[in-house]
Amino acid sequence: MAKLEVITYGHPILREVAKPVGKVDERIHSIIRDMMDALLEEEGIGLAAPQVGISERIVLIDLSKSGQTTKMALLNPEIIFSSKDMVPYEEGCLSVPDVWGTVYRPSSVRVKAKTLTGKSILIEAEDILARVLQHEIDHLNGKLFIDYLSEEDKTKNAEKITALIEENRKKLGHVAL
Ligand code: NI
Repeated sequence: MAKLEVITYGHPILREVAKPVGKVDERIHSIIRDMMDALLEEEGIGLAAPQVGISERIVLIDLSKSGQTTKMALLNPEIIFSSKDMVPYEEGCLSVPDVWGTVYRPSSVRVKAKTLTGKSILIEAEDILARVLQHEIDHLNGKLFIDYLSEEDKTKNAEKITALIEENRKKLGHVAL
């Protein structure tokens, strides 16, 4: 089993549009097992495959860190309905460590996805589940929560963000912001 490392802001994969998952084979199962380990270790509530350097449309959700039992692995998740009302919430992201800021998002969403058994499902989500689904699906489209921050929150976090960019520039020789 491969240990997956969470990549951080500045890494170009985080800005790519991830590829849809086709056949659910052993390779996909293995990616999901490794992502579960990474999510557990990082103590997050959600993880998208691009965050571990895999540009494919796979999302894991585990709300146990926020006191709920919901756990799911979703393939090709897609938001098919968003409520009109926008609600604020203080977000963070494993790929943008130590950065926090207020993001407004629709309070509820309907998401279409496939499960690991290839079954199509519809998820009616509100509260924290709606929040994390939108955040993780954004990752599949090369979007990050910091894109939505107010100027004030951007300024507040500027040093940490610059440090992440520099770290990736040193490691990779190039970055994608
Ligand atoms: Ni994230």
